[in-house]
Amino acid sequence: MPEPDMIVALTPNLSLDRTMTLDRSLVPGQLHRVTGLTVAAGGKGVNLARAVRAFGGASCVAGVVGGFNGQHFRALLEAEGLENVLEDGEGETRECQALLSGGDPGERGHPTEINEAGPPYQPGAVARLLSHLPQGQVVVCGSLAPNTPGTAFLDMLRGLDRPVVDSSGAGLEAAVQAGASLIKPNEHELEALTGSAALDSARELYRRSGVQVLLTRGAHGAAFVGEEVWEVEAPQIEVKNPVGSGDTLLGTFLWARQGGQSIPDALRLAVAAGSANAMLGGPLKFRADVARELMMRTRLLTPA
Ligand SMILES: Nc1ncnc2c1ncn2[C@@H]1O[C@H](COP(=O)(O)OP(=O)(O)OP(=O)(O)O)[C@@H](O)[C@H]1O
Ligand SMILES: [Mg+2]
Repeated sequence: MPEPDMIVALTPNLSLDRTMTLDRSLVPGQLHRVTGLTVAAGGKGVNLARAVRAFGGASCVAGVVGGFNGQHFRALLEAEGLENVLEDGEGETRECQALLSGGDPGERGHPTEINEAGPPYQPGAVARLLSHLPQGQVVVCGSLAPNTPGTAFLDMLRGLDRPVVDSSGAGLEAAVQAGASLIKPNEHELEALTGSAALDSARELYRRSGVQVLLTRGAHGAAFVGEEVWEVEAPQIEVKNPVGSGDTLLGTFLWARQGGQSIPDALRLAVAAGSANAMLGGPLKFRADVARELMMRTRLLTPA
């Protein structure tokens, strides 16, 4: 029996993530040796589902997989014990490589990411997937499969009844057009959507569309814009790996809201969770107890 409050992370372009630590700083055109390798199921929805589960919530990863990478992906999700609804499709599930420079942790910086595009949009497999999605709050996570027709994505969003959407570019535009309940852009994504990363442009977007905005600002924290407007400053931390911080933040926010927490409380915990993710080294290392501790070091700002 599906749980009524399940958070369903519908991920149109799943991936097999390979994170490599190199023996030294990355220099294009030269040989590097890999000193550490992690292979994990990836795609933004998987990170979101991990965060929800870390807090004891019910989550499920939904998407289309294919080929040997698809089998590997299934096995990795099962090994992690993450619930899933996966439909078999054509082609190979894509691989995304993250390269972490070795040496002094203080000089590592943001990882170099090399992401494949993935197999093209497969209407049949997507239709089968949508026909057996579990009940719950659907969150559409990440990039679209290559060649996804804009109309098909829009129709899918409309059929999902006010989903939450964490995407970029055309995916985010479609989310606003379809009347999503909430979008989670970072500052670059909001600027690409509205021409400005300022809070006022999120307010204007909400006023004209009714779509709530959870805007994330990296080291600066996050803001929520809807009927209520709240801003939260992130704690100062030492960053190990910030990849997936936005996904962890969104999963935490939705879990907390489902549990009846107020928007400012949920936002503080969510910001702390994003920071804990960056501090601990990414979604595989994320821990809810560390997020709860960091929450004390977030700062809620009076809504302007
Ligand atoms: N350097 C940092 N220091 C403290 N907190 C951080 C830092 N970077 C990220 N965070 C936390 O993570 C949250 C989300 O970060 P960000 O805005 O970078 O998301 P994002 O770009 O969507 O990330 P991704 O798509 O990789 O998951 C921030 O709101 C903040 O709480
Ligand atoms: Mg993001």
